[in-house]
Amino acid sequence: MDDSDNYTSNPRIEAGARTINDIIEARLSRRGFLAGLSASAAMSGVGCSTGPEGASGPAATKAPSPAFSFAEITRGADGDHHVPKGYLADLVLRWGDAVFPDAPPFDPYAQTAAAQERQFGYNNDFIGFHPLVSKGSTVTRGLLCVNHEFTTTRLMFPGLTQGRLLTKRECEVELAAHGGTIIEIERDREGVWRPVLTSQFNRRISARSTVMMITGPAAGSDRMKTSKDPSGKLVIGTLNNCAGGMTPWGTYLMAEENFHGYFRGELAEGDPEAGNHARCGVPGGWYQWGRYFDRFDVSKTPNEPNRFGWMVEVDILDPASTPKKRTAMGRFKHEGAESVVAPDGRVVFYMGDDQRFDYVYKFVTARPFDSEDPAANRDLLDEGTLYVARFDAEGWVDWLPLIFGEGPLTPSNEFHSQADVMIETRRAADLLGATPMDRPEDVEPDPAAGRVFLMLTNNTSRTADQIDAANPRASNAFGHIIEIIEPNGDFTSTRSRWEILVQCGDPADPTADAKWNPATSEHGWFGSPDNCAMDPTGRLWVATDGNQATGANDGLWALSTDGKSRGTGRAFFRAPNGAEVCGPRFTPDGRTLFLAVQHPGDGRGTSFENPSTRWPEFVDDRPPRPSVVAIRRKDLGEIGSG
Ligand code: FEO
Ligand code: CA
Ligand code: CA
Repeated sequence: MDDSDNYTSNPRIEAGARTINDIIEARLSRRGFLAGLSASAAMSGVGCSTGPEGASGPAATKAPSPAFSFAEITRGADGDHHVPKGYLADLVLRWGDAVFPDAPPFDPYAQTAAAQERQFGYNNDFIGFHPLVSKGSTVTRGLLCVNHEFTTTRLMFPGLTQGRLLTKRECEVELAAHGGTIIEIERDREGVWRPVLTSQFNRRISARSTVMMITGPAAGSDRMKTSKDPSGKLVIGTLNNCAGGMTPWGTYLMAEENFHGYFRGELAEGDPEAGNHARCGVPGGWYQWGRYFDRFDVSKTPNEPNRFGWMVEVDILDPASTPKKRTAMGRFKHEGAESVVAPDGRVVFYMGDDQRFDYVYKFVTARPFDSEDPAANRDLLDEGTLYVARFDAEGWVDWLPLIFGEGPLTPSNEFHSQADVMIETRRAADLLGATPMDRPEDVEPDPAAGRVFLMLTNNTSRTADQIDAANPRASNAFGHIIEIIEPNGDFTSTRSRWEILVQCGDPADPTADAKWNPATSEHGWFGSPDNCAMDPTGRLWVATDGNQATGANDGLWALSTDGKSRGTGRAFFRAPNGAEVCGPRFTPDGRTLFLAVQHPGDGRGTSFENPSTRWPEFVDDRPPRPSVVAIRRKDLGEIGSG
């Protein structure tokens, strides 16, 4: 989802309680950050494979990844997608495609909720891949796990251009189009992936009908109870599943991001949730569902928003399993949850809270992951410590634990239990003094190098007196990428180093204050990094959401992180008009790259009748369709090499 409805709800910012210019000075005078030189001249070799001083992790000894090798595509904007010469992009699943053999054919003029729950949902975002079968080194069958983040109402239904309100039936279709899809896919000898509709694993999870269990510290709290669920432990559906993660034990995590947008109505005077809801922007009033369904109207169901904003875990090998909202991982606008197994076996999940001036978190499980005993991992996510990041000007990150009774998280600040701390994660993090960031999107561990890449997409609200070392630009329209180095590869560490990898935007525009390796071509730079992925050889790929601000469509770029090429971008995929690129997910053999093309045809003044593209069908009376594409090399070699 783009920046159009992003705002600030962090009271520390409104109060001006943070951010000082002199920490920038201190930061810039430090060795690591470009040595205070103008960026492009200084970028080459900066902070390269040895990492910044003080970090002696595996980054120093990691075997070098192969250099990127592909014919870069050009910047631009049109209604179709583009891949490099020698590559093909195949459509795997489009909104409305069958997930089961009995799914009705897609008919955008006669949509029903029942049909949508048998079909691929709207606005694909996260993509997970769980391999099932390999032939030699090539994966040939696997499960694709795809989030359906939100619905772009005006592109989805005909006849909305006259200001007509949605019908209840249309709202139900929207509810059904949210959630996720788990579907088996199979690769043929030519390298083309196709859905296996008869697979026993196929499943549609929706906001409309999938019952979920609430587990962990907030389960059963009075603040989680509603008239329909007096237990506070059961909830229907999941909302705004943006990015996510696949756990080391093979489950699928669906991050609940902009849940506030689904609620409308006014809280009763004096409702104790008023401050909590305000901190999360509830009610956002983006959708009309609350007209027809009381649970989306806070005047009628004031606690319902507390049941969203969590991390959902799904057992993909048991389609009858009940998904679980893991409240130990905190409640905020969860972007994603990629993980890594630390040297002592505990599992660490990195998570962004995607809003202007919100925070970066990591969750460390209390117990180690047991690769021999899947049952032992079943509830690993119910116990552990959630930490929030404070970045300082000397290049350190302190990870501050959110534990009831410690520091300010006590009854004197209206925290009476760990449930309260988790339900109001943001307010707890405010009190701990976390660093307000420029919209944290994906956070991706690089296990072999003992480091983590953090995408900060943009923040045009940051003023000059609010800049700090880790967020160094006022009115940051293009975002930046931070590298966090965990000491000695210990991802559970509570003290890490950090470094800015690139400052996005046009390096040829002196007013942009962009910082790239000068080897970056006119096509290789970008704005608004969002989703990202490591390929199997340890190379970083970055997708954008908002690159239109640079005058070109969103896409996917290869980004070098080591050696002399560190900080060099290279354009690989360009999305059709209106779309952001999500998902990026490589198969373990590196021969397929799945991308989610989200909200194609979007843009100012667009509608079902008048989209900015009719990708991917290009049929006059058919709407654009969010779709997953699989990219392969014509010679079936590894993506990005050769
Ligand atoms: Fe749904 Fe933060 O992107
Ligand atoms: Ca985004
Ligand atoms: Ca995102």
